[in-house]
Amino acid sequence: MKSLFVANWKMNLLQRDAVAFASRFKELFSGVSNYDAVFGIAPALSSFQALKQALGNYQQVWLGAQNVHWLASGAHTGEISAAMLKELGADFAIIGHSERRQFYGETNDKVALRAKAAINEGLTAIVCVGELEADFKAKKTAEVVHRQLLASLAGLSAADSLRLVVAYEPVWAIGTGLAATPEIADTVHQQIRAELCEIFGEEAGEKIILLYGGSTSPDNIAELCSQKEVQGALIGGASLKPESFAALILNGAKARAALA
Ligand code: PGA
Repeated sequence: MKSLFVANWKMNLLQRDAVAFASRFKELFSGVSNYDAVFGIAPALSSFQALKQALGNYQQVWLGAQNVHWLASGAHTGEISAAMLKELGADFAIIGHSERRQFYGETNDKVALRAKAAINEGLTAIVCVGELEADFKAKKTAEVVHRQLLASLAGLSAADSLRLVVAYEPVWAIGTGLAATPEIADTVHQQIRAELCEIFGEEAGEKIILLYGGSTSPDNIAELCSQKEVQGALIGGASLKPESFAALILNGAKARAALA
C-alpha cells in the first residue's frame, strides 16, 4: 500500500446520502487505474450496511467504525463491540478521535483497551493523537504527542502493530480550515515514527502507516503527502462529498507515488 485515505463521516449522512455517495464515487473512479492507494470510509453505523451494499465489491475500499468498545459483550448501553463490528463487515475502527477525547471523556487508557480489542478481533485500529491549540501555542506538541502515544498504545505488541495505523490530528486543525503546514506534519510524524520504532522495534515500527488529519482538502493534500512520513490522511469535511473525497485521494496518491 503506497497510501491510505480514510473518510470520517462523523454524525453525518443518512442512508440515502451514503448510497448516492457510493454511486457517484464509483463513477468518479471508473477508468482511473494505478493510483495505488487504499481508501476507507467510517460512516455512521446506521448507514454501514447501505453503504457496503452500494459499494459492492468495489476495489480497495475499507469500511469501518468511528469507535469500538473494549469488552466483548455485557451491560454497556449504547456501546458496540469489536465482534459486532466484525459481524457487520468492518475492516477498521477509528479510536481516540479528539472529538471523543474532548467531548466524551475519552482517555488514553481506554484508547489502549479499545485498540487492543479491535486488533484482537482482526480489525485495524486507527489510533488518533494530537495536541490542543493551547499546547501548540505553548510549544508542547512533542510532549503531548509523546504522552498520548505511549499511553494510547500501552499493551500492544509488535505483532499487534501489524494492524495499527496512527493518525496525527492537531486539534486546532480539525474542522477549522487551518491545516498544519507540511513541515509541522512531517516533524510530528518523524517523532511518531521514531517513537513507534522504540515501542515496537524498528522492523515493526517502520511498517506502521501514519496519517495526517485536520482540514485536508484536494488543494493541500499533495503538499502534505509529499512529506516522507505523511502516508495519507484521515479526512472529515472534505470526505462528505464524493467529488472532493475522490479528488483528495487522487491528488494525495499521486504525490505519494512521485516520492517512491
Ligand atoms: P476535518 O476533520 O478534515 O474536517 O478537519 C478531520 C477529522 O476530524 O478527522
